[in-house]
Amino acid sequence: MPDATPPPNALAKPAAGTPLIEARDLVKTYTMGDMTVHALRGVSLDIDAGDFVAIMGASGSGKSTLMNILGCLDLPTSGEYRLAGEEVEGLAQDQLASIRNRRIGFVFQQFNLLPRTSALENVELPLLYTGMPRQERQARALRRLEQVGLRERADHHPRQLSGGQQQRVAIARALVNDPVLILADEPTGALDSRTSVEVMALLQQLNREGITIVLVTHEHDIADFAGRIIVFRDGRVQSDEPNERKDAAAMLQSLRSEAAAP
Ligand SMILES: Nc1ncnc2c1ncn2[C@@H]1O[C@H](COP(=O)(O)OP(=O)(O)O)[C@@H](O)[C@H]1O
Ligand SMILES: [Mg+2]
Repeated sequence: MPDATPPPNALAKPAAGTPLIEARDLVKTYTMGDMTVHALRGVSLDIDAGDFVAIMGASGSGKSTLMNILGCLDLPTSGEYRLAGEEVEGLAQDQLASIRNRRIGFVFQQFNLLPRTSALENVELPLLYTGMPRQERQARALRRLEQVGLRERADHHPRQLSGGQQQRVAIARALVNDPVLILADEPTGALDSRTSVEVMALLQQLNREGITIVLVTHEHDIADFAGRIIVFRDGRVQSDEPNERKDAAAMLQSLRSEAAAP
């Protein structure tokens, strides 16, 4: 349920099917002392608005490095990156932060919620930097908690919530700025399989509402919920194929009826 009025920092949303991510020859090299790590060795990718993409690959193959660049958390050593037509490489840190806040929601394996802070305040956090009045911040955060089915848990602290609930709070936080893109790095990595399917059903629902999703996972069962699977190997794209996506909500439904069967 999208907010009635966009936040003051919202930008026009790219139409479905138009390029959202255009990455050309991304190279990322880390230098530590006299050691050089080639995390990305020339990655080119186009992702359209409305896509749901899974990125797979062995540990160390460069998945998180790519996500950090796509999320404007880090810049490539060389190569070009445009997000919704906006050149990203060459921007200053504050400009990167501004793109990040206006366009992107992040979801992590370990949820990254503030521990001694209510679910509501965790969801409000990205709005603190927008200058939005407190009442409006709270109203928006509550709507997002409602969207992920946790409005009645608004006062709970993370340790009072299950892993799946914490991840839904983190997804509500990722949504509060009306992002066009959600980047999720192993969002189900700390969850049991049933809870993982619930989180995937939520992400598929958001995708149907128009949010582009790029998700890193090492589980084929999870990647199968995406419409396209990209496999990384040694800092390069090894394969990039469309995928007939499974429907997580339907899978939950059949799990429920199995459980109800005598
Ligand atoms: N901040 C960093 N400094 C140095 N090396 C790094 C840094 N981040 C990642 N690396 C290295 O870059 C390579 C790719 O890492 P990463 O993108 O985290 O892979 P993945 O997410 O696929 O496991 C690895 O060899 C890793 O050790
Ligand atoms: Mg990683």
